[in-house]
Amino acid sequence: MLWWTSHYDFTVMRHIISTKTLSIEWVASLFSRAQSLKLGTQKPLIGGGIGSLLFYENSTRTKNSFHLALQELNYKILDFQIESSSATKGENITDTIQTLANLGANLFVIRHGSSLIMQSLEKYFLNHPIHIINAGNGMNEHPSQALLDLFTIAESVGFDYASLRGQKISIIGDCLHSRVARSNIHLLKRFGLQVTLVGPPNLVPWGFEDLGVEVSHNLKQGIEGSSFLMVLRIQKERQNANVISSLSEYNKYYGLSESMLSQASLLDSVRVLHPGPVNRNIEIESSLLDSDRSLVNQQVLNGRFVRIALIEELQKTMS
Ligand code: NCD
Repeated sequence: MLWWTSHYDFTVMRHIISTKTLSIEWVASLFSRAQSLKLGTQKPLIGGGIGSLLFYENSTRTKNSFHLALQELNYKILDFQIESSSATKGENITDTIQTLANLGANLFVIRHGSSLIMQSLEKYFLNHPIHIINAGNGMNEHPSQALLDLFTIAESVGFDYASLRGQKISIIGDCLHSRVARSNIHLLKRFGLQVTLVGPPNLVPWGFEDLGVEVSHNLKQGIEGSSFLMVLRIQKERQNANVISSLSEYNKYYGLSESMLSQASLLDSVRVLHPGPVNRNIEIESSLLDSDRSLVNQQVLNGRFVRIALIEELQKTMS
């Protein structure tokens, strides 16, 4: 029996663009499916369309896990490498999507540097039977990452969602430029977690409090009392000026280490997450990343099953 009542509609979705609109029921049902797939008690529901992984920004784990997920669902996958595509000849993204859709592609997993791109694509392809999954747009959202993060957190408490209510999670680092942070904030809060953002003032400005989170500029104080710590990479590629003086200076004040965990009196039960890629010994001490406290390998593994389940959700609306 679920403990919540939700005011969100339980809808079948055509695109996965944001975590803002995902209801607790929808997410819990997605996770139950992903868990069965992971345990091997259920098999993927073969969809068998044509998928396109349109990555205009680099990726290792997101692109490969979507690739695997599509393969497991029997999709043909079109080849798209930005550096050898017609994008280098000036073709815009809508023309590229239209071209691949003409070849039969019906599912587009898209990563792009623009924070506004998904809303324009949704509008542009409103009456077109294609499906879009946002695999990260600029500084805005990265819904499948937030879903696999929450899945990993939920898994660590045996999917006892009620027990997550009131637990504290601290997101540490470059929140300003992080789509992972934004998608996570919406989702974690919906599941009743208390979110604190920790980092230097120029990477965690006070404006974030409007999203219903706490802000701390002191690492030890910010992480005290947390059950989960989510560490973020400094997004140098999204900073148009040097917003931190040096990476070693950043590490000195905000790098997460075993010694900081003991100073903050965090028990052995605290769990550490990171979406990857990690810059070892900058945002997190290498030994802590490799320790038993770290859920990072689980996050990657879980991403595969959560993404199969996500594509299956879209298959419900495919014609
Ligand atoms: C993240 C991203 O691309 O937003 N990576 C990922 O998808 N796992 C985080 C990052 O690049 O730092």
